[in-house]
Amino acid sequence: MTAIDDSPVRDPDVLRADMVRALRDQDGIRSEPVAAAFAAVPRHLFAPDTPAEIAYDLHRTVPVKKDENGLELSVMSAAHLQAVMLEQAGIEPGMKALEVGSGGVNAAYLQELVGKQGEVTTVDIDRDVIDQARRCLDDAGYPQVRTVLADGEGGVPDGAPYDLIMVTAAAWDVPPSWIDGLAPAGRLVVPLTVCGTTRSIAFDRDGTGLVSRSYTLARFVPMQGEGAAEERKVMLREGVAVQSDDIRVPLDARALDRALDLPRLERWSGEAYDLPDELELYLTLNLSSPARLHAANDVVERGIVEASALFGVPTLVSEDSFAYRTRRENADTGGFESGVVAHGPGAEALADEYVTLLRRWARDHRRRGAAMFRYLPGPAPTPLPGNAVLRRHGIVTATWH
Ligand SMILES: C[S@@+](CC[C@H](N)C(=O)[O-])C[C@H]1O[C@@H](n2cnc3c(N)ncnc32)[C@H](O)[C@@H]1O
Repeated sequence: MTAIDDSPVRDPDVLRADMVRALRDQDGIRSEPVAAAFAAVPRHLFAPDTPAEIAYDLHRTVPVKKDENGLELSVMSAAHLQAVMLEQAGIEPGMKALEVGSGGVNAAYLQELVGKQGEVTTVDIDRDVIDQARRCLDDAGYPQVRTVLADGEGGVPDGAPYDLIMVTAAAWDVPPSWIDGLAPAGRLVVPLTVCGTTRSIAFDRDGTGLVSRSYTLARFVPMQGEGAAEERKVMLREGVAVQSDDIRVPLDARALDRALDLPRLERWSGEAYDLPDELELYLTLNLSSPARLHAANDVVERGIVEASALFGVPTLVSEDSFAYRTRRENADTGGFESGVVAHGPGAEALADEYVTLLRRWARDHRRRGAAMFRYLPGPAPTPLPGNAVLRRHGIVTATWH
């Protein structure tokens, strides 16, 4: 028997007004121009095959295209994340904006924000996506937005310089075209991925490089094409995997799997475990040999790996050993205490390094949004600074003050 959905179909205008109210309440929208843009754009017209309730849901993405394995290649981003990134962008009327990664609706918001005197170009690597974006932009009343089919790694030089380049796919690096394509006071908003965790970072120019103004946790489909991530992922056994995007990190699946069979070593920091997103970022950027451990439910249920690995956990890796974060209830630290689980012949040394970082974080840096990122293009300096992440076109550093 087929269930009949008899819930009343809600008017898109009402859904849109509710969305704007909720985005303000949830700190997605913080300024009047962004509120006006979200109130103006008929979002449901950019997801023509999806119920309007879903298109106007603050935290839901709408699938646009999947690959042959069912992995998402393109989605309409969730309204909340779009609002946060548009706020990060600090857009003024009359600006020229480039969006890398298209779909239509975010380009329409950009057009509302730059106004009649401004210009918006949106580029996508996928013909199906850009064709749909074109149709939707025309149907929704935004024929002036320019749509381009290309690999955004190269930017869109014939419209440069841009006051804003907003990337809406998870980038692993900042190609020269994005920095060269920025006006002197231009801003780049880019979801940058480091070792499996992504932050949308608003960068301004700083000499030949970039310096961050704000950042926020984000999740995006990955960049394809020339700029795709250089990432390795190895399976230790069914349900346990380790990934890294740092070429200097050894990933010997057999040695690490043998380590997992050895008795575990636990170290406790004596410090509170809180602000998990910030701690995750701090660990990822400060571990000397960073990777990310993932474990499936049943492996966790059997007690082989801690629950912290269910969504991926920053992990310190050597040739034959690894250490990762865990937590336990502890009334003395208030709520939870952070700690380390380590396996392998080198477990002691790795646990020491890890627990030192947990304590340093708790003592010096436990404040939200306290990191400052820099991107330095060009050949990496030697020796590489301890907190630097090596990329194809430059290095990323993050400092906590
Ligand atoms: C999350 S979707 C974009 C969402 C969109 N901005 C919106 O309005 O909701 C990411 C898009 O990035 C595109 N993409 C991935 N790699 C790209 C590349 N190298 N150049 C341009 N577009 C790319 C994908 O095809 C996909 O359509």
